[in-house]
Amino acid sequence: MSNKFYITTPIYYVNARPHIGHSYTTIACDAIARRHRGLGDDTWFLTGTDEHGQKIERAAAAAQTSPQKFADNVSAEFRALWDRMGITYDDYIRTTSERHKSGVQALWRRLRDNGYIYKGSYTGQYCVFDEMYVEVGPGEPCPECGRPTETIKEENYFFKLSAFAEPLIELYTSQPDFIRPETRRNEVIAFVKSGLRDQSISRSTFSWGILVPDDPKHVIYVWFDALANYATALGYGSSDDSKFKKFWPADVHMIGKEIVRFHCVYWPAFLMAARLPLPKSIVAHGWLLFEENKMSKSRGNIVRSETILDVLGADALRYFLLREVVFGQDGSFSFDALVQRYNSDLANGLGNLASRTLAMITRYFKAEVPYPSHTAAHTPEEDLVAALAKHTIKEFHELFEQHQFSRALELAWALVAAVDKYIVENEPWALAEQQDENSRARLATVLYTSAEALRIVTALAYPVIPQAAAKIWSQLGLGDLTTFSLADLHWGQLKLGTRLGKVEPVFPRADKSTIERMQQMEEKNRAGAAASATIAEGAKGTAATASQAQAVEGRTPSSPASVEGRAPSPVHSPDAKIAIDDFAKVELRVAQVKVAERVKGADKLLRLEVDLGTETRQILAGIAEAYTPETLIGRKIVIVANLAPRKLRGLESNGMLLAASLEGGKPVLAGFLEDVPVGARLK
Ligand code: MSP
Repeated sequence: MSNKFYITTPIYYVNARPHIGHSYTTIACDAIARRHRGLGDDTWFLTGTDEHGQKIERAAAAAQTSPQKFADNVSAEFRALWDRMGITYDDYIRTTSERHKSGVQALWRRLRDNGYIYKGSYTGQYCVFDEMYVEVGPGEPCPECGRPTETIKEENYFFKLSAFAEPLIELYTSQPDFIRPETRRNEVIAFVKSGLRDQSISRSTFSWGILVPDDPKHVIYVWFDALANYATALGYGSSDDSKFKKFWPADVHMIGKEIVRFHCVYWPAFLMAARLPLPKSIVAHGWLLFEENKMSKSRGNIVRSETILDVLGADALRYFLLREVVFGQDGSFSFDALVQRYNSDLANGLGNLASRTLAMITRYFKAEVPYPSHTAAHTPEEDLVAALAKHTIKEFHELFEQHQFSRALELAWALVAAVDKYIVENEPWALAEQQDENSRARLATVLYTSAEALRIVTALAYPVIPQAAAKIWSQLGLGDLTTFSLADLHWGQLKLGTRLGKVEPVFPRADKSTIERMQQMEEKNRAGAAASATIAEGAKGTAATASQAQAVEGRTPSSPASVEGRAPSPVHSPDAKIAIDDFAKVELRVAQVKVAERVKGADKLLRLEVDLGTETRQILAGIAEAYTPETLIGRKIVIVANLAPRKLRGLESNGMLLAASLEGGKPVLAGFLEDVPVGARLK
């Protein structure tokens, strides 16, 4: 009897277009799902998009479109990308779909009827970017992402999270695999042990969400809405919940490490309150970094999957991400590393093994798998290859089960390298030149052994490089790889006399220009995005606009005089009007802080190095009393980019940053609630 296996990706926010960070999670899930199908498990793989909440509502307003249209477009983009990449999802859930909405309301009612929801009021800070209530004071940035938080004072519904501290600890203890890897588990345990407060689970000051049953002034908190997708997609709360009955609970919720708390604390607590079975495991991977930072649209350092698909194909991206990054840890992406890995492992490694083995069988044995000799022509070397292959099959399975993709692939490719060496040492091309029977038998044995090892690596690698594996499989004359039972994979299955398919290269070698080509494609795309980024009306949130904000540059924010005693500019006078042309002279740009440090002997000054997309600048800013250097790293700010340079404390300041200047208070840096690429101009 087959086992059921249910795996999910996070549902992705539609405020940002897909990048290889999203692909990473989706590819990992796809590889796991493919492997489970191959093992004969009844597999269900879910992905989708998260489309409600203030962040999306504002992103849509900024794009001057309705939230629904906005969500429709970006959700379709994600889906089209997954289709192009051959992602074998079984269902694609959108949180704006009717089936989801009614399922979420059903879950809400169940929690309410079980006595875990009550009405209260919430006053506190909210981070729209993370869609999260945060425990910081007014004016303080979000502890997670460093962006400005907003004060909200609302009548809300609360979930009795505090009732679940003990049951959660009991869960983590009795089910040690519930959270993987161990580091994340420890963090969650520490968090829960530090005490759980009841959680607000509705909002009432905007409308882009699912209505609270029987109280339509409220919309359901976007994380309650989003987490429920894992159940609603299976028909939870609908008239047909057969899939829910069959597949729930999830076997694996795969997520990035930044959303562990939502999945490991809130989600199981909601499920406990609903008296539903809990997922078997939450697996959190690390971040994909680009240029040393988490790849994200807001940092402007994303790499699009499309570029890699266009140039090297989906398998190259899949293989690289799963082979190069140690699963669970952060890993860096670079085009150089991608091409290097592609050439060494795919073009020169598996691709070369396939083409040389299959080409020789075609040439020397009329494209039919030759009969190996078990007698005279058989040497201990064949036994070694067979033993290594058997070991690889077993270990690969275990490593894959533990999500150690990188090690599993390393192991499989050690078999590729061993067979390559075996071929080189046995020189089948030289054996082919001998006419005697023994050489012919030896040639058959060497090529059979190589082809059989190739078949085994291909079957193992299939979940990771499905397109190439399917091609090699059919070149081996074995038909459709997707119908092959991985559970039965063992040495010696390759049938003698199998007729090979047409032999064609699967991974053409990439040359140096490949790297440049991909870099140029990405630069062009970034430049396009930067050029079209403007600050749209309605997207301001708490961020000070350029005209409202005052410059903070080496002076006390509440005092209008600069440290150098320059008179305040006429712009500061509320009566002075300027023409649009005057404003156009000021080049305001989005910059990202790369380096921030105190300036010796100047209490108020920070020395910043900011990235403008095209260059890095040094700026001195009088914000040391309001911001510690660490909180600024990675943050996006607005700077006046065309200000003449000047010296402060002997250091050159090349530009000026913008902040709201509060009477008697600390400066608050101008920022964005939506994602804006580095270098974008404000106008
Ligand atoms: N909508 C929420 C998730 C709700 S799930 C019930 C969300 N969406 S997101 O669009 O921000 O996607 C976050 C997920 O995308 C991460 O958890 C991770 O799976 C993936 N990644 C996005 N950027 C990534 C990297 N730079 N590196 C690795 N994974 C990344 O959070």
